[in-house]
Amino acid sequence: MSQSAANGAALSVGDERVVDIGTIAHGGHFIAHADGRTLFVRHAITGERARVRVTEVSSKVVRADAIEILEASPDRVPAPCPWAHPGGCGGCDFQHIALAAQRELKARVLTDALRRFGRLGHAQVEALGIEVRELPGHPDGLHWRTRMRWATASDGRTGLRAHRSHEIIPVDRCLIAAVGVDVPDTAPVPKVLHTVRDRQWRLGSEDFWQVHAALPEALVDTVVEFAQPQPGQSWWDLYAGGGLFAAFLGEAVGATGRVDAVESSAHGIRVARRALHDLPQVRLHTSDVEAWIDATDHDAPDGIVLDPPRAGAGPAVVSAIAAAEVPTIVYVACDPVALARDIALFAQRGYRVAALRAFDAFPMTHHLETVAVLRLSGE
Ligand SMILES: C[S@@+](CC[C@H](N)C(=O)[O-])C[C@H]1O[C@@H](n2cnc3c(N)ncnc32)[C@H](O)[C@@H]1O
Repeated sequence: MSQSAANGAALSVGDERVVDIGTIAHGGHFIAHADGRTLFVRHAITGERARVRVTEVSSKVVRADAIEILEASPDRVPAPCPWAHPGGCGGCDFQHIALAAQRELKARVLTDALRRFGRLGHAQVEALGIEVRELPGHPDGLHWRTRMRWATASDGRTGLRAHRSHEIIPVDRCLIAAVGVDVPDTAPVPKVLHTVRDRQWRLGSEDFWQVHAALPEALVDTVVEFAQPQPGQSWWDLYAGGGLFAAFLGEAVGATGRVDAVESSAHGIRVARRALHDLPQVRLHTSDVEAWIDATDHDAPDGIVLDPPRAGAGPAVVSAIAAAEVPTIVYVACDPVALARDIALFAQRGYRVAALRAFDAFPMTHHLETVAVLRLSGE
C-alpha cells in the first residue's frame, strides 16, 4: 500500500483498491468508485469485482487498471494477444471480452451517448433499435486491420505504443492486423489498390482510408440506402477524403446530376481525381468545409453526406449546413459522443434521426462506426 493510502490522503498513482466494476464509459473504460473518487478502469468488465491499480490521477479523472480479477464476468475470455494486459500494448481495450459482449458494450455506449449528449428520449432511442453489427470476414475479431503504424524507438527497437504513453512495447506480431502488415515494418508502404464495388482507389500510407477491410463497402451500401440519391439530384459529400461516397453518389445522380465533394487534404483530392476520373458530375473542392459552405452562394442540394474527423462537425458547420434546409443528411461517425453532440445541434434546427446503423469496424477495441440519417421534420 502506498504512503498516500496509509495516510487516508487522496488516491495516488500505484495505489491499489478492491472495487466493483460498474457500467462502461466512452473510451473503453469501466466506472468504479473508491475513496470518494470515480475511477475509469481498463481491463475489467461490468459486474466484476477486481483489484485495481491507479495509473493516473488528476483533478478531473482517476485512471486505473484491473490487475487481479476476484469475481469474473461470464463474458471474460483469455486475450488472444499476449501483449494485451495492464502495462502492455495500448492498441486494444477489449481483448479480454467475448466478441458478442464487445458489441453489446459498444451498443450501450452509443445508446448512452444518444441519450446524454444527443438528448434523445428513451422512446426515440428504442425506436432506432440500436445494435452493433459484425462486419464480414473475420468472425474471430482478428486480422481485419489493413494498415498499421509501427513505432520505432531511438535505439531502433520497433513495436506499438503503451496506453496513453510514448513507451514502445516490443510487439512482434499484431493479431488484429491483416496478414502482410502484422509484423513490424517501418519502411514506407508502397501504394495499395482498394476496390469497392467495381471501383478502384490507389492509396499511399498517408491517404485516409477506413482501416477495416470490409468497412468501405458496408459504409457505401448504408450511405446509399439511407440517402436514396436519384438521377438528376445534387448532393454534397463533406469531408470527402478520396471520394469514397462521392463516387457512388455520382453514379446514382448520373450525368444530369451533380455532387460537390469537399476535402481539406490536397492528397485526398488527388486520390479522388484519379479514382473518379470518369464521373465529371463530381466536382472536387480542396477546402475547409466551413469555408467552402460560407464562400459561395450555393444552391441548396437535395442531400448531404458528411463524414467528419473524430471531433465531429461542431456548431459552426452544423449551423451552416442547417441553414441550407437540406431535407436529408447522412452522417458517418467514428465517435459516438461527437455524433450525439452534433445530433443535438441538428435537432435545434428541426432535424430528427430517422434511422441509424452501427458497425463493429474495430473488433477488440472500444471503437465503432455509425451511420445516421437525419431528416428535416415534416419531410
Ligand atoms: C473520417 S475521414 C472521411 C473520409 C471519407 N469520407 C472516407 O470515408 O474515405 C475525414 C476526412 O476529413 C478531412 N478533413 C478534416 N478536417 C476537415 C475540414 N475542416 N474541412 C475539410 N476536410 C476536412 C480529412 O482530411 C479526412 O480526409
